[in-house]
Amino acid sequence: MIIHANKGRSIGKRDPMLYGQFIEHFHRQIYGGVYDPDSPLSDEDGLRTDVIEAMRQIKVPVLRWPGGCFVSSYHWMDGVGTERIPVFDKAWRVEEPNTFGTDEYIKMCRKIGCEPYICTNAGTGTAEEMSDWMEYCNLETEGKYARMRIRNGYTEPHRVRYWSIGNENYGSWEIGAKTSEEWSCLVTEAAKMLKHVDPTAELTAAALDDLDWNVALLKKCGSFLDWISIHGYWDAIHQTNALADYETCMTYTNTIEDSVRRVRGLLTAMGLENRIRIAFDEWNLRGWYHPNVHTIRQGVAKEEYLIPRDDNDINSSYTMADAVFAACFLNMCHRNCDIVGMAAFAPVVNTRGCIYTYPEGIVKRSTYHVFDLYVNHLGDVVLNGWTENEPWKIYRKHGREECRTSVLDVVVTAFSDKEGYAVAAVNKDPDEAAEIRIDLEAAGTVRIYTVNGPDKDSYNDIGREEVQIRVRNAGEYRWGMKLQLEPHSVNVIEICADPA
Ligand code: AHR
Repeated sequence: MIIHANKGRSIGKRDPMLYGQFIEHFHRQIYGGVYDPDSPLSDEDGLRTDVIEAMRQIKVPVLRWPGGCFVSSYHWMDGVGTERIPVFDKAWRVEEPNTFGTDEYIKMCRKIGCEPYICTNAGTGTAEEMSDWMEYCNLETEGKYARMRIRNGYTEPHRVRYWSIGNENYGSWEIGAKTSEEWSCLVTEAAKMLKHVDPTAELTAAALDDLDWNVALLKKCGSFLDWISIHGYWDAIHQTNALADYETCMTYTNTIEDSVRRVRGLLTAMGLENRIRIAFDEWNLRGWYHPNVHTIRQGVAKEEYLIPRDDNDINSSYTMADAVFAACFLNMCHRNCDIVGMAAFAPVVNTRGCIYTYPEGIVKRSTYHVFDLYVNHLGDVVLNGWTENEPWKIYRKHGREECRTSVLDVVVTAFSDKEGYAVAAVNKDPDEAAEIRIDLEAAGTVRIYTVNGPDKDSYNDIGREEVQIRVRNAGEYRWGMKLQLEPHSVNVIEICADPA
């Protein structure tokens, strides 16, 4: 493949929020994950210092919380103040202790150095409850909720800028699911009240790439919204945990851009493409494994939905397939950075997350290293490059269906604060190296950072670090330089006078 780009043709500056993360009150994400007051590894606020440090290293820009499905029956007032009363979480059907609530979340965000992004209860909650939450967080002193926060020991407002109205409220699985008509009415009223409390806040609303849902929503309240939220999990294994093999995961990359394309088209058709950006605020290759929970079927024993959740944390599940897919997803966001302004990997800790916790430490799964690579080495200006001789192959989906799939996925970036380029180059092929030729007006040393392991199924676990970032020097750049990309690898190729 020949890669061309020049600095006169750019798509724009990518928002660092593309590298965002999500955390939900589900299984071991909060309790026993990032929040573990009894752990010797936790600080005075009960936060695991090793987890916080790992999040700092990948410069998490924004962290969506508290759900997910959880939020659709969550009442924020249960999680503030000195009286924390446990409640039954009707989404995940477990007891929620409420010891981690808004103030703990804000403290965590401050320690990570990220923007908080609160998703509100639009299932059983009301527009008033959402805006009361915003009063608690954002008003200086006015009213009973700001005063409540001050009484709770937080004299300064939390200043939460990003707010989502709801989570997946279109889905039959969601508590308090809505029709599109009901949804556009609720979002309008909620947006009105939220913006009356804090006009500087940025609002998004739960949506999907469905035309009817979005037309109803955007016609009625497009003028109040700053964002539209969509989600994507490609390997739909919520019920089975039958992980797709490597080749199948590569065929999923063929549809990685579909939702963005459709939502972009709709925003454009409605004249909103310069006003509303896409927040892809839950994404992962693999759906979380939580069988038998979103059902009103009678006779399901508790063990049938509680015990399977542990299988999300089998570390051998998270291989180079996850890393390569994650890099392709981030490349897609970069190519669409004029309209995709935020994304959140779902989740950050445990379940399918990039960080796994155990009592004595953490494991950085394969996807963690992709974030590390992109955040710390890619440029912030995305060039509108072009390629010649794009290789493709037939990969089999589930060992059967033959799918024509592009082998390489490339994005060229430049830096707004220094000379040089950084090329993200993914080789999806499970077996063979691929050659790229880089034709850029560039000078300097070429350094290649590679996330890979010895095998396409390599993974990290306690005491096992197969997937890592390796660095090699490829000498001085010259026009038409050819480089070999290892099979199943994620690479950032820096061409800089002084590579950092
Ligand atoms: O499977 C994870 C759940 O999936 C999240 O809670 C929800 O938002 C999504 O549907």
